[in-house]
Amino acid sequence: MHIAVASIQGATGSTTTAIHFAAYLEALGPTLLLDGDSNRTATAWAAKSNSLPYQVADVRSGREIAREFEHLVTDCGLRQSNAHLKDLAEGCDLLVIPAVTMWVDNDHQRQILDAFAGIEADNYRVLITMASPGQSKVANLRDTLETAGIPTFTAVVPRLEAFQKAAAAGVIVSAVRDPQAARAWEAYVSVGSEILLSRTRS
Ligand SMILES: Nc1ncnc2c1ncn2[C@@H]1O[C@H](COP(=O)(O)OP(=O)(O)OP(=O)(O)O)[C@@H](O)[C@H]1O
Ligand SMILES: [Mg+2]
Repeated sequence: MHIAVASIQGATGSTTTAIHFAAYLEALGPTLLLDGDSNRTATAWAAKSNSLPYQVADVRSGREIAREFEHLVTDCGLRQSNAHLKDLAEGCDLLVIPAVTMWVDNDHQRQILDAFAGIEADNYRVLITMASPGQSKVANLRDTLETAGIPTFTAVVPRLEAFQKAAAAGVIVSAVRDPQAARAWEAYVSVGSEILLSRTRS
């Protein structure tokens, strides 16, 4: 399976999502994380501890070894134009785009919805990340997206400091010493299960 993670706005958790998707998939089969973001955050994450349970490679050099792996996850970084998103969706099994609840509060909402218009693909889904407690904002964002015909994951990734600790240490969140580490990891397990379920149904 090839999952591409792309963001239409910076700092929405796309690298964190790619890092954790790859950990989820590695438990199912050999997985390669391709770092396609020019800021190379995933590569830096891996280099901090050298202990991620899978290999991380630059997207250009990694393509040559990609066929040795059962699963690929690509951190695509920012791809704001819908033409770019459409190309990405066509090149993978599932395109995942993180979204934050701030989107429904600010003036960018129209611009953000426009970025999805014209993807013309049914193999993409929005993942609500960095969700703070209080369900109404998540529900508002989901409503806004679904009303615009944009599919979302049922699972939501909560805003938890454990994720920042994982990034700082260069590890998967389940390896962090934090009371919420297990909850943080479970969020990505739930998203991964949804992906597998949707594939067995299709
Ligand atoms: N669920 C979360 N809860 C709390 N903090 C988070 C969460 N997900 C990501 N973060 C933190 O938010 C910041 C941005 O996350 P990340 O780097 O994954 O986003 P990005 O979309 O890849 O950003 P960029 O635009 O720089 O590529 C990081 O400091 C990260 O540790
Ligand atoms: Mg990133």
